[in-house]
Amino acid sequence: MRSAILPKRYVTCERRTSRTTCPFSLSLTRLNAVSDWTPGSWRALPAEQQPAWPDEHALELALKRLSSLPPLVFAGEARALREALAGVAAGKAFLLQAGDCAESFYDFTADSIRDKLKVILQMAVVLTYGTGKPVVKVGRIAGQFAKPRSAPSEVVDGVEIPAFRGHIVNDDAPTPEARRPDPSRLVAAYHQSASTLNLLRAFTKGGFADLSQVHMWNQQFVSSSREGQRYETIAGEIDRALRFMAACGIDLLAEESLHQVDFYTSHEALILGYEEALTRKDSLTGGWYDTSAHLLWVGERTRQSSGAHAHFLSGVGNPVAAKVGPAATPEELVALCRVLDPGRQPGRLTLICRMGAGKVGEMLPPLQRAVQDSGHPVVWACDPMHGNTFVSDGGRKTRHFDDVLAEISGFFAACRSTGSWPGGVHIELTGDSVTECLGGAEEVLEDDLELRYTTTCDPRLNARQSLDLAFRVAELLRAG
Ligand code: TRP
Ligand code: MN
Repeated sequence: MRSAILPKRYVTCERRTSRTTCPFSLSLTRLNAVSDWTPGSWRALPAEQQPAWPDEHALELALKRLSSLPPLVFAGEARALREALAGVAAGKAFLLQAGDCAESFYDFTADSIRDKLKVILQMAVVLTYGTGKPVVKVGRIAGQFAKPRSAPSEVVDGVEIPAFRGHIVNDDAPTPEARRPDPSRLVAAYHQSASTLNLLRAFTKGGFADLSQVHMWNQQFVSSSREGQRYETIAGEIDRALRFMAACGIDLLAEESLHQVDFYTSHEALILGYEEALTRKDSLTGGWYDTSAHLLWVGERTRQSSGAHAHFLSGVGNPVAAKVGPAATPEELVALCRVLDPGRQPGRLTLICRMGAGKVGEMLPPLQRAVQDSGHPVVWACDPMHGNTFVSDGGRKTRHFDDVLAEISGFFAACRSTGSWPGGVHIELTGDSVTECLGGAEEVLEDDLELRYTTTCDPRLNARQSLDLAFRVAELLRAG
């Protein structure tokens, strides 16, 4: 089907219009480039958002070191995620992608990883139980270090210093020394990812994620709240269901799926040297896989279909995603789909929309129709965070929980109007009791932002707001 469709469009384009005006012509140039793809072929293309590393030699050494280190994930796992996402694309499952905006070299403890996982497991339980559909669990974790910036530098106390680009590049302290891009951080990020992933694998496969532990994921400060009690009700029902199955003679111990979860990792593929160094050839299939995470995405600022980031992701076998903001045009998006999903393969490409609560209703349907017409079986996911950020009167970057919910409702409505499956949500959260986003059942007010505001980048939902959100999403899915 693919070879039947692509050449036809090619011919139509070539005959009708010049390369600069035809929306498909760029991706045609790309298609040629893809056949020459290597992990380093992105270097010939314009790459946005790359740090100005001051020491080339140190950079080379760091990248060389990285390329000699073991992979963090296996190709077979990435393929398993792609298959799970194919289920989402077909409307049979739901994607929960969640974690930090930016992981930090400082906030790196077993407790913080465990508590983040607890919230994600709670959300997954609420969604699975509430909808009766499998939930594909993907963390923004174990590699989510790099941040794109709107300007390469900022002025602090009259001094111009490089912008903070995430701990994989520089330190967040506002001094020229701290902000100097340091390539040894690439290697440090790898090692922190490896330890994080190790703990996640232990937690998800070693008993912690067992459904019999469902009460234990309800942290104390959550369980006393309204959302926490609602969760306890579900947890109690799951206990009963398990006892019922055991009474019916089903050997629960033998049912592996009750005792563990498949938990996948993801991050924005921003620093391309890092991603290149961790890209390896799979011995089984001979294909290239970026072994830094199971799923990689391009951000709103780096998703140009002719740019280096899309080119890099076009050549790896992992499932990939792209953030899609309100400025995206249908032509642009279809061109990007052709680069990232030339094989029209279910599960290969997820489009994560981040329009803003006020824009999603108007902007999303035309994009969905264009992608539908193009025949790419994408997963549609909603990032209700990044289009709803504003600065409070006190100068804190924040988001209002009501706007987050409003964007999710708008996303569901848009999907309903175009006949697309609302496949998932993409959330920035933490397991802690932070006060970074406003609102929620026990309202966080503007004055509260000062209390526990610990993010190194964007404001995250706290554990209670996250759980509350899962209940709302489950309700929307049931109503759909
Ligand atoms: N393995 C199943 C799943 O991932 C059931 C399951 C086990 C589960 N532990 C869980 C579901 C924790 C959600 C949360 O769906
Ligand atoms: Mn963010």
